[in-house]
Amino acid sequence: MAPSRREFLGVILGASAAGALGPPALAQTTLTPTPACGGHATPTQTEGPYFKPSSPERVSLLEPEMRGRRLVVTGVVRGTDCKPVPRALLDFWQADAGGRYDNAGFRLRGHQLTDAEGRYRLETVLPGVYPGRTRHIHVKAQAPNRPPLTTQLYFPGEAANARDGIFDPALLVALSDAPDGASAARFDFVLALR
Ligand SMILES: [Fe+2]
Repeated sequence: MAPSRREFLGVILGASAAGALGPPALAQTTLTPTPACGGHATPTQTEGPYFKPSSPERVSLLEPEMRGRRLVVTGVVRGTDCKPVPRALLDFWQADAGGRYDNAGFRLRGHQLTDAEGRYRLETVLPGVYPGRTRHIHVKAQAPNRPPLTTQLYFPGEAANARDGIFDPALLVALSDAPDGASAARFDFVLALR
């Protein structure tokens, strides 16, 4: 079994206390992320005017000639008990790089199911901004046989976050640069299952 975060911390604190006696062999140890669940479900947000049911099932929303910076969003869907939720439905929709939604078809719309460990991976482009809103991706997250949770994901470092009345910092993705030039975003969803 993998050591818990507390056990990791204990080892590291112990190591630093004895640091003068030897090399800091564990200084590079990577802590496991603090669980984001802990009894608190992901906050809900307004659906907005552009949701369309029956999006296609696909993990990549990329299409030839699509403009914008490539974005890969990954994470895990958990219950408030912290356990991963397999076969959770995630339905994403977003604006294109120019800030436009496709309301005629299903461009930049798609749903997928989490794997046996509750993981998902979405390939898309960084959504553009449109008047009145900061940069965001809409999503509905639904555990099997449960009602969907409707929310939105946000991006750190956006000046418009502070001016957006809907923005919630609890819904910020962790953003980094992927080795292949894409942006990599990480967000774990927590669903109330009881
Ligand atoms: Fe929107």
